[in-house]
This record gives sequence, C-alpha cells and structure tokens, in this order.
Amino acid sequence: PAGKGGAAFGFTPIAPVPYTVDAFTVPEGFRWDPIIRWGDPIFDAADAFDPMQQTAEKQARQFGYNCDYLDIIAHPNGKRAVLVANNEYTNAPIMFPPAATEEERLEQLRVTMAAHGMSIVELERKHKGSTWRYVVGAPRNRRITASTPFAVDGPAAGSDLLKTQDDPAGTTILGTFGNCAGGTTPWGTVLSGEENFNGYFRAENTGDSLTARGRRRYGLTPNASSYGWEAVDARFDARQPGYENEPHRHGWIIEVDPENPDEPPVKHTAMGRMKHEGANVTISASGHAVAYMGDDERFDYLYKFVSRDTFRPGKSAKARAHNKTLLSNGSLYVARFSGDSPASEITGTGALPADGQFDGTGEWVPLVVDNESVVPGVTTDEVLVFTRLAADAVGATKMDRCEDVQPSPRSGRVYVACTNNTARGTGTNEGATEVNPRNVNRDGHVIEITEAGEDAAATTFGWSILILAGDPSVNALTYFAGFPADQVSPISCPDNLAFDSAGNLWISTDGQPGTIGYNDGLFRVPLEGAERGNVQQFLAVPRDAETCGPVIHDTDQSVFVAVQHPGEEGSWEAQNSYFPDYVPAGALEGGKWGGPRPSVVQVTRA
Ligand code: FEO
Ligand code: CA
Ligand code: CA
Ligand code: CA
Repeated sequence: PAGKGGAAFGFTPIAPVPYTVDAFTVPEGFRWDPIIRWGDPIFDAADAFDPMQQTAEKQARQFGYNCDYLDIIAHPNGKRAVLVANNEYTNAPIMFPPAATEEERLEQLRVTMAAHGMSIVELERKHKGSTWRYVVGAPRNRRITASTPFAVDGPAAGSDLLKTQDDPAGTTILGTFGNCAGGTTPWGTVLSGEENFNGYFRAENTGDSLTARGRRRYGLTPNASSYGWEAVDARFDARQPGYENEPHRHGWIIEVDPENPDEPPVKHTAMGRMKHEGANVTISASGHAVAYMGDDERFDYLYKFVSRDTFRPGKSAKARAHNKTLLSNGSLYVARFSGDSPASEITGTGALPADGQFDGTGEWVPLVVDNESVVPGVTTDEVLVFTRLAADAVGATKMDRCEDVQPSPRSGRVYVACTNNTARGTGTNEGATEVNPRNVNRDGHVIEITEAGEDAAATTFGWSILILAGDPSVNALTYFAGFPADQVSPISCPDNLAFDSAGNLWISTDGQPGTIGYNDGLFRVPLEGAERGNVQQFLAVPRDAETCGPVIHDTDQSVFVAVQHPGEEGSWEAQNSYFPDYVPAGALEGGKWGGPRPSVVQVTRA
C-alpha cells in the first residue's frame, strides 16, 4: 500500500561500497546485466566496437559515451520497448590511445563529437519479467550527435541573437552536447537539458554589451575550449566573425520524439536558456503542461514553465501532434523562497531551527507571461537567451545547484535535488539561508515543494527540506525527514530523481567518492507514513562512476541505471575500471573490451 515503502518491491539494502572498488553491487537475490555499452553498434553489426580502430563515422552509428538521462518506454505487451539515453560528454584520455599523428588527433576530436548527444534503441525480451536485449537495426534506432540539425521554436526562434553565418534565419541549429538529465513527457516525447555547453566554446567576454555580460554570466571565456572542437569545426570558436552567436544556440531544453526517427529534434526557446539540468512535465488541474527545471550551477536558480495551451488527452495522432506544440508557447517563472524561522536560527551548520524544520513559502516570479517579457527594459528574446540575467534582475533565490526537479505522479509534490555547494558562505558568497541551510554544503539536500491549492500552475507554494544528506555515522547534522538517522544508508550529492509505482522517491548520486568515501549509488526513500525519510541503498556503481538514469519498473521487478564515467580518473595506460565486462585489460573478446565503457544496466531478480 501507499506509504509503506514499496512492500511489493522488497530488498535488503546493500552496505556502502568503498570508492576504490571496481564493481557494480546489487542486493542479495538480484542480478545485473548491461543492455548496451559505449560503442555497441546500433544500425549494423558491422560497426562493432574496437577502440583501436575507432572512427567518427563508426561512432555516429554506435551507442554514445557517458549516458546520463535514461528512460525505458515499454510497449503495453511488455515485450518491446524503446531505450532513450543522453550522452553527456566524453573522457578522451581513457577512450583512445594517445594520438600518434595530427591527423589521428583531429579524427579523435570528431569521434568525441559523434559520441555526444543522444542514443535511441529498441529493446525486446521473450516475456514480461525476462531481461531486455537491444535490437541492432530496429526501425526507431537513432543517433543524435553534436552535428545533428535541430529545429528551433518558441518566441526567440529567428531572433538576431541566434543568427550565424551558417544560419542567417536563426532557425536551424546543429547539434546537442552537455546533455544531462531529462524527462519523458505525458505525450511520449523525451526532453533533455543542455547543461555545461560553455566548455565547448571559445568566446571573447570583455565589455559591457549584453552579449559580453551574458558570456561572463554563463562562464564563456576566450581560453581554448575543454573539448578542442574548434580545431575541426570553426563554429566552436565564437571569436570568429559570423559565429559570435553560436554559444547562444546551446543551453536549451530539447524535445525528441522517439516514435518519429526522421523528425528533427526541437530546441524550445520558450523554456529559457541556462545550464539546463533537465525538465520534467506534469499536467496541471487546468490542463496546462508544467515543466520544472533546475539551472545546475552554484548560486543559480530553480525555474518553472507553464504552457499557454492545454493538454489534449488520448493517443490519437491529432492529440499527440497538438501536445508536441505545448512547450513552444507559455510563461516562464523563477523561484523566490522565504523561510519562516528567524535568520538568527539559521546557523549554517544544518542544525534545525527552533520550529524543528527548514521550511517556509515561496513564489514563482514571472519573467515571461504568454510569450511576452515582464522584466522591465528587457525584450522577450533577451529574457529567453539570457535567462540568468533576467532572473538576477528579479531577485530570484540563489540555490545550491539544482539538479533533477521531479513532480511526484502520485502526490503532485515537487522534489528538488540540490547536489552541493561548497562555496556557500565562503569569501563574499551568500551564506546559509533557510532553504540552503548549510555553509560549505558538501553533501547536498532535497527540497519538497507543495504548490498552492495543489495546482501545478500556481504562482505560490510551500516548501520544506526533506533530506539534509551526509553520513550520519560521522556527521551529527544530517536530517532525514525526522527518521532516525542511525538507521539510514549514508548518502551524499543527490542528483537524479525518480518515482516507483508506490510513490517512493529514488535518488541517484554523483560525487560520493569525494565526500563520504563511497561509490555513488541508487537509494529509495518512502515519502509517506512511518517510513518517511528512511533512505535505503539499492545499488552502487563501479569505481569513479556516477549513477544516472534511474528508471524504476518496480511492478516488473526491474530497475535500470545509466553508469556514467566509470574509471574517469584513470588513463589509457592505467585504467581504473573494467566495467561492465571485466575482461582482461586491453582485451577485445566478442565485442567485450578490457577497459571502462559507460553502459545502461538492468537490475532484475536473480
Ligand atoms: Fe550533469 Fe548537473 O549534472
Ligand atoms: Ca522553519
Ligand atoms: Ca546531473
Ligand atoms: Ca551529475
């Protein structure tokens, strides 16, 4: 029953796994199997993986690197599904041997461009409850890379701020990269957040022009880019005449329809431009599509988009086509939080104030209403392209890195994973507030929001902190919704969120090795009843990896995760991880390689 913490999906929590262990760990009675790995061929078995013979052409036909967002959208018959994953970034030093020639170096850069973006593959299985396999060459299989053409829609489509010499209309953008989390919409498309796009560009950032201020605010610099793509594609050097606006064409929410592999994906300008972690959509009581979105940077903001038009239920092609326009027009809000305890009781340590809760109220401050800017002196195009500057102007609340923001399909309450912010309260930075109550916030926290009148389109809300993360065995100032801290699994750096069918929240982490000394993992936490706050660890990912995805098909006794950047701290000569196949170092045996490969994993009953 609801509130009992998923009695139907029982497991004995695993012990935390020390960060040097290169193993994927599941509870007793479960097994794990990779479904698809970096480099697995998607369209034709002839593109089989071989890291010594990798080419950009082959990579564009293989599963991409560093899978982050994941969904497994199953057909009602339970035997077919489509897997959609983001491929956020690449770790070149562990992907290839060092380039021997300049020509090889440039080809490796092109490979990394082709390893970014998204991967879509069909799955099949013999019967409900058996394990999934991906199908090479299935009709919906698709790769989207750093070079794939995107349509642009919403109020800023065609804006002068989006025009380049290659796209004088400002309506067709090549590529997506830095894609972090995402969400599957109620109409069956997938959203993905373009996050750390700034690291892919070189751009002058001095002066007082709006563009220059915007560049500084989004972290663009004239330095060589982190990925070096300007050596193979001039548009990544925004210092070049004709490409000044190229960085403005990234940092959006994109929408992909897995049912239409030939349809260009879309960048939605109505949802604003930031370091988008992701977007998760719910339908309000009034029928509007409401998307919750985090900007993952220290001291950046939490946003909400409300569609102008309303959702049409039903599976007809007409309803679906209409619903695919919902994110193109609407209103954009940023969150302002107020605490209800006196500032003197917010000590910055995480110690609870006298009323026993970090809690209060908040408002969604409008930036754009029905496609029109409401920020004085700022045009709609400017608000949407430089959303951070507009949010600064209205006094939004500076947050501790909002990652996934997920509304519960059961209760409608909204959960915000604030992963960490070790800069809070240091130097001239803002100190602790009731909603971000720890200075030097190393372990992060999770906020629970209740919209006014339980209406997702409301402009005010109540909030409280659900979890102040950490390892209670060494840190007395953790908080688990009042549940006894000595009974929970240690947890740090919450990142991705998901729900099971019983309404429990699942939290995956990114950063535990550097904070509490354990491999990252996946945790379940009931939200109702006596077990509310009882965090229990379900799995741990291997060395240096981050746990992404997660997808919980508890009624099917299955859990899926994307294992991102295993062995990231190693090198080509001395790899840190042999996940997922654990064949001898450097070996290539029947498509299995003795080196780390980011992969999608399914966990099922043994
Ligand atoms: Fe890519 Fe915000 O984590
Ligand atoms: Ca309070
Ligand atoms: Ca993330
Ligand atoms: Ca992350």
